[in-house]
Amino acid sequence: MAKIYDRAMRTTEERCLRQWRSELLAQATGELLEIGAGTGINLPHYPAQIKTLTVSEPDPHMRNQLQKKLSALTAHQVRVADWGAEQVDLPDQSIDTIVSTLVLCSVPSPQQTLRELNRLLRPGGQLLFLEHVIATDSRTVHWQRCCEPLWRCCCGNCHLTRDTVRSIEASGMIIEQLREADMLTAPAIVRRTMRGRARKPGPHADNNS
Ligand SMILES: C[S@@+](CC[C@H](N)C(=O)[O-])C[C@H]1O[C@@H](n2cnc3c(N)ncnc32)[C@H](O)[C@@H]1O
Repeated sequence: MAKIYDRAMRTTEERCLRQWRSELLAQATGELLEIGAGTGINLPHYPAQIKTLTVSEPDPHMRNQLQKKLSALTAHQVRVADWGAEQVDLPDQSIDTIVSTLVLCSVPSPQQTLRELNRLLRPGGQLLFLEHVIATDSRTVHWQRCCEPLWRCCCGNCHLTRDTVRSIEASGMIIEQLREADMLTAPAIVRRTMRGRARKPGPHADNNS
């Protein structure tokens, strides 16, 4: 999957994802952690003002692709780690911005992962997310349920029927910005996406200063 990921995603990136990444990640501030960074596709979108950039990717093949391209993708100093998002080796309340794009579909337990992200975020810290989610019409949901077991096997444990926004809210974060859009060119079972910003309750510091 690591070898073909960028090629397989190219048309979707061009038609919508690149623009969405760019708008979403322009809001990044302070000490930043990206989970499930894949081949490093978000790196060119991080603004100059972030303080530190740590990217974690547990899959060694994905991480290898990322590391090969690092200097071409960003001028930031980047720490690359191999943590899964459910157990990150960073202190409590040490992160201002966490980025998750197309990752919460693949983690073994979104609840456990979101607990960990809450632990890592400072009060007032933000989660910037872009995720494909369960459809709204029953016909597509039916197909998502039918295809999910095989899809998970072929696509790195990617689930088709997760209601990720509800999971984020259930974790105690407050959704401050939410956009729904269809991922153009994607099959119907992965087309519906949600993106936005959730915040851990607490005072919201200006993390750029
Ligand atoms: C569909 S790819 C998305 C890659 C990239 N974030 C993007 O926006 O294109 C899903 C990524 O999640 C990673 N992943 C899978 N399980 C994970 C876990 N438990 N913790 C963190 N990342 C995980 C995969 O290795 C893969 O790189």
